[in-house]
Order: sequence, then C-alpha cells, then structure tokens
Amino acid sequence: MYSAMVTIVISFVIQLRPTICDENLNSRPIIGVLAQSCDPKADPYIGDTYIPSTYVKWLESGGARVVPIRVKESDQYYETLFKRINGVVFPGGGINIVTSYFAKAAKLLYNMALKANDDGDYFPLWGTCQGFQQLTVLTSGQDLLSYLHAHRMLPINLTSDFSQSRLFADLPADILTSLTLYNVTANHHNWGLSPKNFSQNQALRSFYRVLSTNVADNGKDFISTFEAIKYPFYGVQWHPEKVPYDWDLGDALTHTKRGVKVTQYFADFFVEECRKSSHHFPDIDTELSTLINNYHPHFSKDKRFQEHYYFNFTHPHLIL
Ligand SMILES: *[C@@H]1O[C@H](CO)[C@@H](O)[C@H](O)[C@H]1NC(C)=O
Ligand SMILES: *[C@@H]1O[C@H](CO)[C@@H](O)[C@H](O)[C@H]1NC(C)=O
Ligand SMILES: *[C@@H]1O[C@H](CO)[C@@H](O)[C@H](O)[C@H]1NC(C)=O
Ligand SMILES: *[C@@H]1O[C@H](CO)[C@@H](O)[C@H](O)[C@H]1NC(C)=O
Repeated sequence: MYSAMVTIVISFVIQLRPTICDENLNSRPIIGVLAQSCDPKADPYIGDTYIPSTYVKWLESGGARVVPIRVKESDQYYETLFKRINGVVFPGGGINIVTSYFAKAAKLLYNMALKANDDGDYFPLWGTCQGFQQLTVLTSGQDLLSYLHAHRMLPINLTSDFSQSRLFADLPADILTSLTLYNVTANHHNWGLSPKNFSQNQALRSFYRVLSTNVADNGKDFISTFEAIKYPFYGVQWHPEKVPYDWDLGDALTHTKRGVKVTQYFADFFVEECRKSSHHFPDIDTELSTLINNYHPHFSKDKRFQEHYYFNFTHPHLIL
C-alpha cells in the first residue's frame, strides 16, 4: 500500500517536472508595495507611513508575498531591496506625486526598473490610482493631470487595439463582458490624465499604449488603463484591489461576483508577470524578516473600513 502510493507520487512528480522546467518561472514571487506618509496631524496618530491592506490581500490572492518599501531611505536601501524583489506596486493614496518622499522613492525604483529591463532583467511595475498618476509623472517628467470628479463604479471603454496588449491578450470572454458592460471598476479620484494631454505629450505617447478611457462624473475624459509598450509596466486609474477587500461606505463600492472575478484577473496577471523575475533574497532569514507578515494591520472602526498597515519607519516623523 505504502510503496504503491510512493510510486504514484513519484510518477506524478516526474510528469509534472517538464512543465515546471519549460515554464522556468519563479514560483515564489515577492512584490514590494511602496508605503506613503500619513498626515502628521492625524488624530489618532498611528504611524508615520502606511500601506492599505487591500493591496497586500490583492497580491496574495494572485500567489505572491509582499514586502513593504519604506520612503525617505538611502539610495543604497532601494538598490539592495530592488535586487531581492520581483516587482513593485505604487498604490493609491493622497500624497504629492512630484515632491513627496513617495514620489522620490518611486522615481528611484522606476529608474532601476527601466535599467533592469533594458539589461534583460525582467522587472514589472504596477500603479493603481495615485500610483497610475505617479507613473505619468515619472515618464513625462511633469504633472499633466487635470481636476475631475470620479467616485463611482464604472465599466471601462476599451480602445480599439486593446487585444494587442499584454494585459488583455488572454482576456476571457466573461471578464471582457464584465469590464465593458458592468460596474466593476472602482473609481475614487479627483484627478485624471486626459486623452488630450496624453496624446500631446511625446514622452507619454511613445511610452504607453492606452487600453481604456472613461468619462468622469463631471463629463471629463480620463485614461483609465494603460501599459508601457516596451516595458512590463501597467497603470490603472481605478482600483482593481477594492471590490473584494474594501467596504468603505463612502466609495459607492459594489461587491458583485463579476467585480470579484475582475479583481482576480488583474491579480493573476500581475503576479504572473512578477514570476518572470528571478530576483531573490540572499537567505531565507532575511526574506522572512522583511515580509509584511511581520506587521499587523490596524482596523479603524470609523465606518469607512480602513484597514492599513502602519509603520514607524522614520524618525523624526515624516513631513508630507
Ligand atoms: C508609532 O509611534 C507613535 C508615537 O510614538 C505611537 O503612538 C504609535 O502607536 C506607533 N505606531 C506603530 C505602528 O508602531
Ligand atoms: C493638461 O495638463 C495641464 C497641466 O499641465 C492642465 O492644467 C490641463 O488642465 C490639462 N488639460 C487637459 C485637457 O486635461
Ligand atoms: C452602473 O451604475 C450606474 C449608476 O452609476 C447605473 O445607472 C447603471 O444602470 C449601472 N449599470 C449596470 C449594468 O448595472
Ligand atoms: C464610454 O464612452 C462613451 C462615449 O464617449 C461615453 O458616453 C460613456 O460615458 C463612456 N463610458 C464610461 C463608463 O465612461
């Protein structure tokens, strides 16, 4: 009985092996999420920087682990961490995308990612909402956003060449239907990049392929999804991580099965991109002690369902 089982297990492993070797992917991806400053006057003051736990859950749902990336650190800190992680997410939030420590750290990481990819070292980036806007500043060197009002769930208007993209090349029919006909993308932003400003800017136009646009509550057009043409960089003005994990009453969030499946599609896509990176920690102890699992999220029962990881990474306390 026992040896029969061993035989079955061994033959199963042998059958699996060629597939694993063929794919040659990193099956233990670790993704950095950039922290951002808290309002120093916040009451109660819980920490100097934070990461919403929704981003952590979203990446974990795709099969990745997460490390927090601190702001206001030395170049050496970012260079060392970059060699250990397999991708970076710039999350949403409310800091200044030109002058903040978040923007400065994002610039270092973005430049390292450009260089790595140029050298054949695959390294993906993802920007959500503020993170999307941050990507536009990093690529163009200027803030080309305009004020608008978008606080609702929307479908997206795909551009005509969306199926030529990496992000949507393998889009299943049901996700395509959800994305284009149902209210599955959570918008929660007062700024956006207009198609006009995008197409008038040479740096942006030559770098990104626009995949979707939307019309805001006040009638202004904004770009809602893009990907870099030559780099594994992706940006969404909306929030793919919110639907299953965020219960903010003020966000007009709906939590439909379609919305949850859309969330999962984007998590699966980005984490799979990160599996193409072979960066790794020097040893398991360093890896374990860097993971976000060393911290505990803080749940504020203020009816907005804010669950954030808070840190006191920097002293004296950060100033925005
Ligand atoms: C950060 O420091 C403040 C002030 O000392 C303290 O109240 C807070 O609990 C600390 N937060 C964390 C996450 O350690
Ligand atoms: C283009 O960007 C500028 C900021 O540089 C902004 O003031 C303007 O409103 C934008 N125009 C459009 C059409 O979005
Ligand atoms: C999407 O939401 C809008 C309100 O913002 C509503 O009018 C519309 O019927 C909804 N669409 C679907 C397919 O549920
Ligand atoms: C899609 O584009 C059409 C035409 O501009 C517009 O009327 C519609 O509101 C857009 N849909 C969304 C969800 O933004």
